[in-house]
Amino acid sequence: MPALLEVAGLSKRFRGLRAVQNVSFEVREGEIVGLIGPNGAGKTTCFNLIAGAFPADEGTIRFDGRPIHGLRPDLICAAGIGRTFQIVKPFAGLSVLDNVMVGALLREKAPRAARALSLQTLEKLGLAARRDELASALTLPDRKRLEVARALATRPKLLLLDEVMAGLRPTECDQIIAVFRSLNRSEGLTILLIEHVMRAVMALAGRIVVLHHGEVIARGAPQEVVRDPAVLECYLGLPSGARSSPAPCRAASSRCSPSAAASWAPPSSSCSTSPRSASRRWWCRRCCTPSACSTGVASPSSSSSRTWRCRSSSPATPTCWKTAASP
Ligand SMILES: Nc1ncnc2c1ncn2[C@@H]1O[C@H](COP(=O)(O)OP(=O)(O)OP(=O)(O)O)[C@@H](O)[C@H]1O
Ligand SMILES: [Mg+2]
Repeated sequence: MPALLEVAGLSKRFRGLRAVQNVSFEVREGEIVGLIGPNGAGKTTCFNLIAGAFPADEGTIRFDGRPIHGLRPDLICAAGIGRTFQIVKPFAGLSVLDNVMVGALLREKAPRAARALSLQTLEKLGLAARRDELASALTLPDRKRLEVARALATRPKLLLLDEVMAGLRPTECDQIIAVFRSLNRSEGLTILLIEHVMRAVMALAGRIVVLHHGEVIARGAPQEVVRDPAVLECYLGLPSGARSSPAPCRAASSRCSPSAAASWAPPSSSCSTSPRSASRRWWCRRCCTPSACSTGVASPSSSSSRTWRCRSSSPATPTCWKTAASP
């Protein structure tokens, strides 16, 4: 398969901060590629560079055989790259349908045809029943779906998805995974997916690229990448020795189940050092709840206070560590 998107030597600084450093990867036509990494790794900045939100300091971006770096965002969208925003950006005063029509009018100049395309797209995302509501009335998960619908209505060849599963319940996650899989398989849509919900990444991505401190630290098949020592270390801050002989979690046998893989568990009040704020949630892959652990302690996995892991377990495979705001 030819490369649809080719990113080569991409770098971006914000004053002294190197947000993206010499990043190269490609996305072939028909692929779903996951772009993962801890908070602040530079994932969204990569999307912003690809989508033309701001220029790269160095590097080139080719799409469909043509250079697109330096082009305006609307021209990049017209070339066939649709994107969602991590911080959702609906036109709050417009209806759900009109939001999607903004995207659809790129390809369908006649309002009637744009409306039909928009309705069709809303159906796919399960939002058709809410088409006449104001976008401002939607819940966050529905706003995320609206982001996807608006981007899809531009009929992209490549869809850039920035954390569209964050905040979704496991069943909602499964529904949207099915939508993306169907778009990929039946319509040939190529997808570059930023996601912290590893269950979704593992279910969708054929390849994964991992960023850390702006650099690519691993790439390859999902099952290999999530066992890569560098990836485990950047997510969990584990020294190499800890990975090879994980501390057993006493609660694991009775409390853990693979089906809990996408759930967020609130920190228990009995956890002495777990985050106390009700707005913080964390989930331990092995123990499921802090109180079920022998130590009952959640600790920051790195200097980032937004990422937590259970001290009494050493997950072999990264899943969801990012904290999320309460719904
Ligand atoms: N417009 C900006 N101005 C200044 N700094 C920025 C800007 N955008 C991003 N950064 C910084 O660049 C770094 C990378 O940010 P980015 O948003 O790309 O990370 P990310 O991997 O998407 O993280 P997250 O998983 O939290 O969304 C961070 O340190 C961030 O604060
Ligand atoms: Mg981001």
